[in-house]
Amino acid sequence: MPHILKQTSLKKFNTFGIDSVASQLVEVSNNQEIKEAIRLGRELNLTPFILGGGSNVLLTLPSYPFVILNKLKGIKKIAEDDDFVWIKVGAGEVWHDMVLHCIDRGWGGVENLSLIPGTVGAAPMQNIGAYGVEIKDIFESLEAIDLESLEEKDFSNSDCKFGYRESVFKNELKGKYFITSVQLKLAKKHVVNTNYGAISEVLNSEGIGIPTIKQVSDAVIKIRQSKLPDPKDIGNAGSFFKNPVIDVDHFVELKKSYPDLPSYAQPDGRVKVPAGWLIEQCGWKGCKEGEIGVHKNQALVLVNYGQATGDEIANLSSRVKASVMEKFKIEISAEVNII
Ligand code: FAD
Ligand code: EPU
Repeated sequence: MPHILKQTSLKKFNTFGIDSVASQLVEVSNNQEIKEAIRLGRELNLTPFILGGGSNVLLTLPSYPFVILNKLKGIKKIAEDDDFVWIKVGAGEVWHDMVLHCIDRGWGGVENLSLIPGTVGAAPMQNIGAYGVEIKDIFESLEAIDLESLEEKDFSNSDCKFGYRESVFKNELKGKYFITSVQLKLAKKHVVNTNYGAISEVLNSEGIGIPTIKQVSDAVIKIRQSKLPDPKDIGNAGSFFKNPVIDVDHFVELKKSYPDLPSYAQPDGRVKVPAGWLIEQCGWKGCKEGEIGVHKNQALVLVNYGQATGDEIANLSSRVKASVMEKFKIEISAEVNII
């Protein structure tokens, strides 16, 4: 039987630093322990809440009856040919540690996803993405345990129905599976992608013409550290909202009043606009109300200055959302899982 901690503060287990309590906190290190934990929860009539690194959750309840903390470890090479290597990674591995493991071995494809907090198992949940790459681009498959039948099941890339910050696990299969491992396909003769954002700018400023995978990773890390607050210093969960995608007519209309509105054309002809820009225009950037606020360098990041409750942050997010709707007639939706 896995070890169970009673009445444990979750403050250290979520990057917002919300001080909710786990009535029972169960750490699991393998599939057997997951199944035992789920059976135990069932006996006690408690629905499990699965927690990885806690970097994409907002805890709004004072206490959670039954929390399962994912500690499944291991990075294994399972196949390789002249061009590619396939690895299987335990869902509780820290994502960035896995990225560094690949970079050390010259395996490309994950370097643009450097320094994203959290666990490997949570990465497919919202198809994590940054700097022009999403996990779907290197994702082969995952293994998961059905929380109802306790059967183990494989999901291929297409089974996961990845979209922008979306997957089947955030939609029709929400709360139905415990992801236990992820298989990735990495390239041995990788062509790096430096087109996005400031990557090439940073590399040029360092006099790097043809960058290695490691140099791209370092550039991404540098940009991220300059833009995003470190949860160790100030509680946050990265982008609180997704960037909304709007119809082209709506975009053309807005552009008349806001010629500076940045935009990214989508393959379906619609237009993605940055929520951070919209929120800044509504005057929220840098606001501080007691323990809560909107970050001064990145309006998409809501912050906890220390003692905020999840409800206070959720309330702020509703007000931010309403003001974007009022000013731009655009509905922004939360990226963070509000629990
Ligand atoms: P958690 O927060 O623990 O969980 C997230 C959700 O997934 C919860 O609903 C949880 O119940 C569920 N879950 C977790 N593990 C499992 C599992 N094994 N099986 C089933 N369900 C599970 N995201 C990006 O995409 N791009 C970024 O650039 C980015 N930058 C960030 C920067 C900062 C500073 C922070 C704090 C966050 C950022 N994020 C970013 C968000 C976050 O890092 C990712 O969403 C990450 O994948 C969350 O992992 P986690 O282990 O912390 O998940
Ligand atoms: N902007 C503003 N004001 C702000 C913030 C941004 O005007 O306060 C403008 C920027 O000037 C830029 C645009 O908005 O023109 C986009 O900003 P940025 O490049 O910082 O990216 P983002 O859209 O805010 C997204 C992801 C991040 C990811 C970065 C890099 C979403 C919701 N967020 O942020 O992911 O790291 O791009 O690829 O898609 C996360 O998901 O938690 C996350 C941090």
